[in-house]
Amino acid sequence: MNKPIGIFDSGIGGLTVVKELVKLLPKENLVYFGDTARIPYGTRSVKLIKQYALEDAAFLEQFNIKILIIACNTVSAVAVDLLKSALIIPVTGVIEPVVSAALNISKKKRIGVIGTTATINSQAYNKQIHSQESDVLVYGQPCPLLISLVEEGWVDDEITRLTIRKYLEPLLQKEIDTIILGCTHFPVIKELIQDEAGPEITLIDSGQETAKVVKKMLDNMEIEANNKSDGSFKCFVSDIPDKFDEVGTRFLGKPVINAERVDFDNFLIEKGEKIYTPLNLNV
Ligand code: DGL
Repeated sequence: MNKPIGIFDSGIGGLTVVKELVKLLPKENLVYFGDTARIPYGTRSVKLIKQYALEDAAFLEQFNIKILIIACNTVSAVAVDLLKSALIIPVTGVIEPVVSAALNISKKKRIGVIGTTATINSQAYNKQIHSQESDVLVYGQPCPLLISLVEEGWVDDEITRLTIRKYLEPLLQKEIDTIILGCTHFPVIKELIQDEAGPEITLIDSGQETAKVVKKMLDNMEIEANNKSDGSFKCFVSDIPDKFDEVGTRFLGKPVINAERVDFDNFLIEKGEKIYTPLNLNV
């Protein structure tokens, strides 16, 4: 089935998930929305993140997508159930896939999670881990500054290294053996994080694990693309497409082709209040 897969994020970071999807599912057509006008989501309230999640999903639904991937960890942490109940197509976030991998890898059953303030405060990773294995110790560490450093392009910079060191210090004292990279931006600085964490700690990347789960979902539902050549990739953003292309190249590991700015405010006005109906379901 050649309908596209929809992917959204608060901005550019979700391209780290796209990168893994393209590797594993090269024939799939992908349509991406990055809400660059309203990033960051990670410092916002749960109520606002849920509203943004419904709006972003509604935008992608216009493209007749066959499956929706919430590439943003923050939205996955607070709004995955809301979107699963609001949409008729299958939806996956990035948390469930990565948790199963972390549980397989951690021998000591002591896992660290790094992410935005909203993700860590939501306790979504702890809840997901404990729903599968109750005796695992989970330590969360918000790392908000790392997002700005990556956006700035300081991916191999001493300031970024020192910031990582400072954030990891309390986690490393807990004798963890696994760290979940619970933010779209962190795969870009994975090497620095690994250097600071030390070789005995395994880092788990949500992009790779999510791509594997998506492949399984498509297989199970028998809706894989049957394109003869590589699938298409279309990118929409709510602001400044040039910067998106420039920074996005760093995330994707290859040039991003012409992200298109959409008039998102106008789209929301046209769609009207019905987008928000699922919020009344109190999910
Ligand atoms: N995409 C967000 C996440 O993965 C990071 C950036 C933001 O705060 O919006 O949590």
